[in-house]
Amino acid sequence: MSTNTLVPTATDTETAGQESPLFRPARLGALRLANRLVMAPMTRNRASATGVPEPIMATYYAQRASAGLIIAEATTPNAVGATYPHIPAIHDESHVAGWRRVTDAVRAAGGQMFLQLQHGGRVGHPETSGHHPLAPSPVPLPGTIVTPSGHRENVVPREMTEQEIHATVADFAAAARRAVDAGFAGVEVHAANGYLLHQFLSRHTNHRTDGYGGSVANRVRLTVEVVRAVAEAIGAERVGVRIAPGVTANAMTEDDVDEVYPALLRELDGLRPAYLHVVFADPDQPLFRTLRQAWSGTLIANPALPWPGPLPADGGRAAAERLLAAGADLISLGRSFLANPDLVTRLRTGAPLNPVREAHLMYVGGETGYTDYPTLD
Ligand SMILES: Cc1cc2nc3c(=O)[nH]c(=O)nc-3n(C[C@H](O)[C@H](O)[C@H](O)COP(=O)(O)O)c2cc1C
Repeated sequence: MSTNTLVPTATDTETAGQESPLFRPARLGALRLANRLVMAPMTRNRASATGVPEPIMATYYAQRASAGLIIAEATTPNAVGATYPHIPAIHDESHVAGWRRVTDAVRAAGGQMFLQLQHGGRVGHPETSGHHPLAPSPVPLPGTIVTPSGHRENVVPREMTEQEIHATVADFAAAARRAVDAGFAGVEVHAANGYLLHQFLSRHTNHRTDGYGGSVANRVRLTVEVVRAVAEAIGAERVGVRIAPGVTANAMTEDDVDEVYPALLRELDGLRPAYLHVVFADPDQPLFRTLRQAWSGTLIANPALPWPGPLPADGGRAAAERLLAAGADLISLGRSFLANPDLVTRLRTGAPLNPVREAHLMYVGGETGYTDYPTLD
């Protein structure tokens, strides 16, 4: 029972019933979330060739507005950071206007949104962005990358100068201001999945000898500077950070996650961001428990579901509940939201879930596999 016995909290009321903690309301900074289910950021390549969100994106996100929070897909804060064709951007007024259509539609449907800010670093190509990719060091992404004219060999990225690093920090802050102008409740700084900030964290992609490379303290510096600059621009309670310790996406290798991530969290925790978002969180891993202890704020956990491959029949609900029991505050799900606009209702009622279909259309334009997944009604 709450200390004020006259006014039971939402938690008190719902503990009395049998409902899963997943469906309890929660606070996130100034926001009140209707439930603890967060739609994970998912790149869907439905923006215009210049990164302007298209009207179909408003339909897609509004369909999923019953999530406690939507984190909109990776969006580039500057031109050189663009990764793939038709990913959205947020560095000029046309992008702000396009995103405003999306946030208006989601708000009208009762939802709340953050926007993920992603600089690709070495994950990008001149044919896509019009710029030579910049990265901590000239270490190319192996293999090929999709461009507007098909798959191309990755190029060797150019090592960023310190001046370019400082300009990048400023670009993240400016993008965050634009995101707020566009109606987002906040932004998520993408330091996961092998993109620029993650490339700085790993000594396999970061061979620098200046203040941004070498020691753990130096490798975490850029992520900390970006989060600090974004927090100064829009307020720490509007900033989240996504990390993926040890995740091998985009050919990442990390062999010192037990040093890097606690060090990163020591720095970030003092900035009091709205949340930390951990990809492929596993409550049985000691690192998850370490991160939970090191983080005093809200922790969003993205369960480690089979990847690739079919989702579990419960859409990740059991894994989500285990993570909540292990100390996560909110749970993000990706593919289950992709295929089920009314995922919250389906999980709450135990209704069957739509499987992901036409996976090859995940990253291709159009309605098919995007806005045409059926709801229960
Ligand atoms: C189509 C697709 C696009 C994705 N794009 C992003 C992205 O833009 N940013 C990001 O941080 N993660 C991205 N992810 C990863 C998801 O956010 C999530 O971590 C992953 O799908 C695992 O969660 P799930 O098992 O619930 O799908 C993407 C995943 C999918 C399936």
